[in-house]
Amino acid sequence: MGNCFGARPHSSSKVDNTHPVSASASEKPATKVAGTSGGCFAQSGVAGHQSNDKRKREAPRSEGDILSFPHLKAFTFNELKNATGNFHLDSLIGEGGFGCVYKGWIDEQRLVAARPGSGTLVAVKKLKLKGFQGHKEWLSEVNYLGKLDHPNLVKLIGYCLDGDNRLLVYEYMPKGSLEDHLFRRGALALPWATRIKVVTGAARGLAFLHESEQRVIYRDFKPSNILLDSEFNAKLSDFGLAKAGPTGDRTHVSTQVLGTQGYAAPEYLGTGHLTSKCDVYSFGVVLLEVLAGRYVIDKTKSGMEENLVDWARPYLGDRRKLFRIMDTKLQGQYPQRAAYIVAMLALQCISVAKNRPNMSEVLATLEQLPLVRHSNSTTTTQSMPNSPLIHNQYSPLTSPTRHLQVET
Ligand SMILES: Nc1ncnc2c1ncn2[C@@H]1O[C@H](COP(=O)(O)OP(=O)(O)OP(=O)(O)O)[C@@H](O)[C@H]1O
Ligand SMILES: [Mg+2]
Repeated sequence: MGNCFGARPHSSSKVDNTHPVSASASEKPATKVAGTSGGCFAQSGVAGHQSNDKRKREAPRSEGDILSFPHLKAFTFNELKNATGNFHLDSLIGEGGFGCVYKGWIDEQRLVAARPGSGTLVAVKKLKLKGFQGHKEWLSEVNYLGKLDHPNLVKLIGYCLDGDNRLLVYEYMPKGSLEDHLFRRGALALPWATRIKVVTGAARGLAFLHESEQRVIYRDFKPSNILLDSEFNAKLSDFGLAKAGPTGDRTHVSTQVLGTQGYAAPEYLGTGHLTSKCDVYSFGVVLLEVLAGRYVIDKTKSGMEENLVDWARPYLGDRRKLFRIMDTKLQGQYPQRAAYIVAMLALQCISVAKNRPNMSEVLATLEQLPLVRHSNSTTTTQSMPNSPLIHNQYSPLTSPTRHLQVET
């Protein structure tokens, strides 16, 4: 869930052996872009944000502020305490800026706590009991995930608003997050085909948000917010920073700058003007991370290499040099043409806003990528046969306007 620019306010250690362990805090980038309270600071000089006091006065605090979603279960704090074995350390899955995430067990029929180890596994996110920002993000999460339903968005099962306690109950995602698989020390290398499956699912989720009635801008697209089911289907989580897009003739919404360092689009950082193209930029950064197998900001590197976007950019459009930025964990096991298409797509996504494709164009390109099939020791390449977007769609390799002139 979104929090602040500056020092990452939490570690992400995990203690669950059946669940991939998050990358350690020291490996994570020093994250997040501005918040207003709860230990965060606001980006200065940005148009359109309100003072802390005003935001506090407007802070919705009661059940009545939650839109009515009959399918969401309102849990009591005690129910979730029982479901997680009193938030026992053994149930801890991970920790983010919002608080800790625990495994919990519920009876699916009656939606009540079940004995740990029986019933249905869920993920319970418990808000740290400080700061207005946390409550606002919690509320945003309930109100967005309560009404949006898509296979590439994580399912919210319920919530708890009980005194000062704020919790969220989600479907459990057994493979953890993309971050766990890309960056966790000791993790098995994610094969090329799985990487593409994950980013394609995530692109489908973002395209759905952008094209939904409210034209939702997600604002916190990054590997730790891309959760994975048992078959590596991607689902976006963390709608704490999501925002309804501009309506009528407006080209953008003005906001306080929120998000995560390295993933936020430069024009958004400079002006606070938020458009769906800001998500496209973040998507491009994640594509780069998937290609290179490293964090966008890596303080262990020096000079230009510290920032993946700056370092990788010159190699992306050069078919012969691309291998220099590719994740060595792939050991060269990727189709070069597909890698080049993805690199060109990433380059488009991180270009100036007007030259970025929209998410449905990005999705169409990913869906048309040549698939790699591993059968015994032979590798064959084939096109995806049934993609509805296979013909006449934008492709970074076929669109002269988008592909050849990347302004940066
Ligand atoms: N529904 C879920 N099922 C399984 N694991 C989950 C689920 N939700 C979150 N997690 C795990 O908990 C970790 C922490 O998640 P959380 O969203 O709180 O923080 P984050 O995404 O790492 O950081 P940030 O606060 O910056 O968004 C995730 O990285 C993921 O591994
Ligand atoms: Mg998250």
